[in-house]
Amino acid sequence: MNNDIGVIGMAVMGRNLALNIANHGYNVSIFNRTVKKTKDVVYNNPKKTIFPFFFIKDFLNSLKKPRCIFLMVQSGSSVDNVISSLIPYLNSGDIIIDGGNSFYKDTIRRYHELLKDNINFIGAGISGGEYGALTGPSIMPGGKKVVYNIIKPILKSISSKFDNEDCVSYIGPDGSGHYVKMVHNGIEYADMQLISETYSILKNILNLNNEEISNIFSFWNKGELKSYLIEITKNILLKKDGKHDLIDCILDSAVNKGTGKWTCKNALDLEESLTIITNSVFSRYLSSLKSQRTLASKILSGPKINSIIHNQEDFIEKLRQALYLGKIISYSQGFSQLGSASKKYFWNLKCGNIAKIFRSGCIIQAACLNKIVDIYKYDDIIINLLFSPYFQDISNKYHSSLREIVSYVIKQGISIPAFSSAITYYDGYRTKESSANLIQAQRDYFGAHTYKRYDKEGIYHTNWIE
Ligand code: 6PG
Repeated sequence: MNNDIGVIGMAVMGRNLALNIANHGYNVSIFNRTVKKTKDVVYNNPKKTIFPFFFIKDFLNSLKKPRCIFLMVQSGSSVDNVISSLIPYLNSGDIIIDGGNSFYKDTIRRYHELLKDNINFIGAGISGGEYGALTGPSIMPGGKKVVYNIIKPILKSISSKFDNEDCVSYIGPDGSGHYVKMVHNGIEYADMQLISETYSILKNILNLNNEEISNIFSFWNKGELKSYLIEITKNILLKKDGKHDLIDCILDSAVNKGTGKWTCKNALDLEESLTIITNSVFSRYLSSLKSQRTLASKILSGPKINSIIHNQEDFIEKLRQALYLGKIISYSQGFSQLGSASKKYFWNLKCGNIAKIFRSGCIIQAACLNKIVDIYKYDDIIINLLFSPYFQDISNKYHSSLREIVSYVIKQGISIPAFSSAITYYDGYRTKESSANLIQAQRDYFGAHTYKRYDKEGIYHTNWIE
């Protein structure tokens, strides 16, 4: 047998990716720890060019050389365990592709460990959920470019397309592909949080029902805000469960698998002000404290919602503008972090290409990414997207709506951490003279940490207590 590629891990993502590859005319060997899952894939897809294997050795012997093995297993120790089980049978030049949500530092470690045995390792971020894996995901491969070139035809054929362009692009060395996927997920958290705050405002301030809110999202999805997440939100709000709207039956406690947290921890390391994403992660943590929140709702006071909106249409339009500005500020923060990481880790990331492959297939696909692609086309070293003419124009037009919505909603006692961090960051970023002079003075006062001055060069220390 001389199969083109092997896929290990037949949970939903691995199964769908294997089917996607097979649908594009490749012969695919598959393997799963539990035999039943492997058999199920073949049983349910009898005509596909998919070949089941129940022993790792047979699985590897079925592949043409150099062997390409896609790992679609849970991130963490499972990836290491599967790699260890492969190593005895691998030859120099073979390629392992990790398509899971692995932590980029694990990918860097695995890349270097495997290199000692001349085994090539590609850390490929894959976004699009189970449907995307089957029909065309966005793929972010990192590793050696020459190795990427070997697997490029397969990745290109299975990836999503945007205007006939493949949503896969070589990202950079070692862990950079998984790093970019991690930041993608951070942006995903912020998008989701901003949308859920918008839903809360429409529900609690305007007292709209789910169908009315869905109609608003549906209308917005025809304009600047067009995106996959707005699209699914409008569908979610219409879903019934018997007589009820399903959304009203779902517990208001959101969990997470950690990629958002990794993005924020890395932002702290890089000294990036990733405030919207970080607040979105914190919001998930706060949401999970259901019993504490229930108790606090009884003993901690706040205003009663008492909203009199005279012009509902105008309020909804301002909310739309606030949501769009919040979103683009969040993308500015995310792309700024990509720029910093690129410099710090010597990855030479091409942010324009990254924006390109985010335009279809992935969870954060959105119309505004096309604008970001254009911005990087003209200025590929732009330090912050807010300096681009397009982002400037939106900011200058929409900041008063964001400000108005935030102040109104806070006065009503509704928590909107992502919206409020967006306007706070915006105002902080455009503030020429901040209050950090006082912080510098305080540091010097209690710790002799020194400070710099406006009026003369050098480093100064004052004896504050004469
Ligand atoms: C994607 C998603 C996916 C992620 C889920 C769940 O791009 O397809 O980002 O990789 O695992 O969105 O993430 P949380 O459980 O952390 O919300």
